[in-house]
Amino acid sequence: MAISVSSCLFPVAGLGTRFLPATKEIPKEMIPLIDRPIIHYGVNEAVEAGCRDMVFVTSRGKRSLEDYFDRSFELEQALKNKGKGNLCEEIHAISRMASFSCVRQPEPLGLGHAVLCGEPLCSRGYFGVVLPDDVMIGEPPVLAQLVAVHEKMGGSVVALEEVPKEETSRYGIVAAVDAGDGLWRVTDLVEKPSPQDAPSNLAVMGRYVLSPRIFDLLRDLPRGKGGEIQLTDGLRRLLQEEPIWGVVYRGRRYDCGTKESWLRATVSLALEDRVLREIVLDALREEGIVEPIVNEGPVVE
Ligand code: UTP
Repeated sequence: MAISVSSCLFPVAGLGTRFLPATKEIPKEMIPLIDRPIIHYGVNEAVEAGCRDMVFVTSRGKRSLEDYFDRSFELEQALKNKGKGNLCEEIHAISRMASFSCVRQPEPLGLGHAVLCGEPLCSRGYFGVVLPDDVMIGEPPVLAQLVAVHEKMGGSVVALEEVPKEETSRYGIVAAVDAGDGLWRVTDLVEKPSPQDAPSNLAVMGRYVLSPRIFDLLRDLPRGKGGEIQLTDGLRRLLQEEPIWGVVYRGRRYDCGTKESWLRATVSLALEDRVLREIVLDALREEGIVEPIVNEGPVVE
């Protein structure tokens, strides 16, 4: 069967200002979460959704991101010489995850503009979009949940999450008709509405399957909120021509876009791992935050 969504676009040209100074020289997407950079999780999710061609929309200073997915011949050779064959295989596998291409966004003119920059590499058919600073862990993976909806219903698909009403001004919010089982037919989208203007509390979260028609629509858009070309405005136009579905994804989202949220994500993921969990708890015990376990031995009657 032909792959329905074979390319995935990663907008990674943002400045990462909320994570400065760490992001002054290191791309936000290259900050590690446990043992691999944040971008690795997004690429893995796209691979698991069936995508084979990864397209990074990058900017100046993002070379390390390209290099990470390239073959590292000297490192592999050095690991082999040291008898670390397993590690060598693990490192080699990163460059074999998919095919990787880059295109530049010359100025950070917004998410819609970043997506438009990907046109030369993504316009063959419906394509995925992953905003990698939201790490999503789902079973099936969240992008795969969207691809499944696209294959069943046709049209574009966005990931939705219910957010507290008072937080609507942080997200793109949809107006939508309930189609059952976590599926919604989107009827409108609003970028960062105040709680009183929000048409619902369903927020669009960092994962999309988009029609290539979006490129023509984005190209004709005037600058929107914040002087940026907003993807939300492009989606509103797309809605006039094609259905957009919203799927309330099943899984967990770890926002890694700020120091605080990244720390929370790191701790949450560590607590899910048997060995790392003990390390976190040990550190908390040492600080006197968690009571030490007193081994009282078996109870003798
Ligand atoms: P964010 O606003 O969350 O990321 O954009 P940012 O701009 O890097 O970070 P802050 O807000 O300054 O801290 C969401 C995604 O869109 C990309 C970002 O790289 C991020 O993955 N983006 C945003 C672009 O690629 N180009 C843009 O012009 C804007």
